[in-house]
Amino acid sequence: MAKARSVFTCSNCSYKTVKWMGCCPDCKLWDTIQESTEMKTKNSHIVSAPKAQLHTVESIPEKEHQRFTTSYTEWDRVAGGGIVPGSFTLISGDPGVGKSTLLLQIANELAKKYKVIYFSTEESLSQVKIRFSRTQTESSELLLSDASSLEEIIATSKDQKPALIIVDSIQNIYSSENFALPGTITQLKESSFHLMKLAKNNNIAIIATGHITKDGNIAGPKMLEHMVDAVFYLQKDEQWHTRILRSIKNRFGSIQETGFFSMEKNGLQEIKNINQYLINETKHAPGSMLISSLQGTRPIFLELQALTVASQFGSPQRVISGIDHKHVVLIAAILEKYLHIKFSKQDIFFKVSGGLTLKDHTTDLGVALALLSSYFQQPLPEKTIALAEISLTGQVKSIPNADIHVQEAARFGFENLLVAKEQHLSSPKIKMVKKLTSVYDLLSLFPESP
Ligand code: TYD
Ligand code: MG
Repeated sequence: MAKARSVFTCSNCSYKTVKWMGCCPDCKLWDTIQESTEMKTKNSHIVSAPKAQLHTVESIPEKEHQRFTTSYTEWDRVAGGGIVPGSFTLISGDPGVGKSTLLLQIANELAKKYKVIYFSTEESLSQVKIRFSRTQTESSELLLSDASSLEEIIATSKDQKPALIIVDSIQNIYSSENFALPGTITQLKESSFHLMKLAKNNNIAIIATGHITKDGNIAGPKMLEHMVDAVFYLQKDEQWHTRILRSIKNRFGSIQETGFFSMEKNGLQEIKNINQYLINETKHAPGSMLISSLQGTRPIFLELQALTVASQFGSPQRVISGIDHKHVVLIAAILEKYLHIKFSKQDIFFKVSGGLTLKDHTTDLGVALALLSSYFQQPLPEKTIALAEISLTGQVKSIPNADIHVQEAARFGFENLLVAKEQHLSSPKIKMVKKLTSVYDLLSLFPESP
């Protein structure tokens, strides 16, 4: 027999207690604990429950993932080749970064081929219309709604059977079954669970936007990110005003891919040729060095900028961004050890332009050359690119997939390539290929050095 009992649950963080409290001991909010009844059941009903069907791997029919592709190749690449039917994708990012604009453009584009409903839970339909007119795109059969009740969204979707629904944003949905305010953890848990069921049971793809907290995480329980199939972040690069779309989770594609956009007067526009864009923005000066980093399937050029100055204090400053701080310190230590350059008496300021964070060691040589170029106050020859690792023993080492980087560098007119002596390259179409054995060879690149 099921037995009813009282439980007290915090409407903000779902903390459960057996007695009422004024202040939630978990999230410390006042007046959020509410009483509800919970049925305590004995395990006996498990015995009478229907049995699950079991399958062998062979007996499961293979599902063709025919993806929804758009004319936005930057979007499709991050989505792993297009949105998969029945998948649930979450897009997060700072307010005003362009999530709604991006999704409106994508939805309008997909509505040319499929039935798409855009649920604007935050903005009124006239606001959506103003945004749409700004993007100056040709309108399609996109269906719009300002419904924000979970039950209404689910009922409409089941009735209309669209291929894709957009929910902008998931934090603003509320379920009338639940008394908590929209955006609270209980509401978010309930909305995401029911939307996931809607996607899987009806083969409707869902893309929802999600708010971000002050420290850069998606607002709400971590469970939200675990539950969905893909999580994308749209972020702004302050320096070049680009919008970078990256995937941090994708059950149907690689998470290394990045898409580049710029926010223009007429909506979010793709930057198809990001490398040309980055090269045009780079200034040839001491301390600047170009490297290539593999982001998913494509090599992307990035500028490393170093500034080294004699330190005024006992412990020199290290102000480093866009790359692991220890990585730069390690390269500086290698140069100090073998070339006797006192980086330990220098303040080092180092950054990677372009808004990307570098994690690979293919940038070692570039880091070393940027530091030396600033230290000697001499620029490297124009159109130079460096691609090599540096070992702790000061040896310059070859990198994997060098041909991919070199082909791209040749395409963009690079004339000087710096690589390791043993680096295998298949007929590079670059004028000057300089092969280096150890860090001692780096000094010859700065002929006026003392
Ligand atoms: P929005 O898509 O509302 O961002 P989010 O949904 O992430 O909060 O983006 C709004 C910003 O974009 C706002 O500052 C205005 C700007 N914008 C343009 O510059 N051009 C345009 O064509 C549009 C539609 C917006
Ligand atoms: Mg928005």
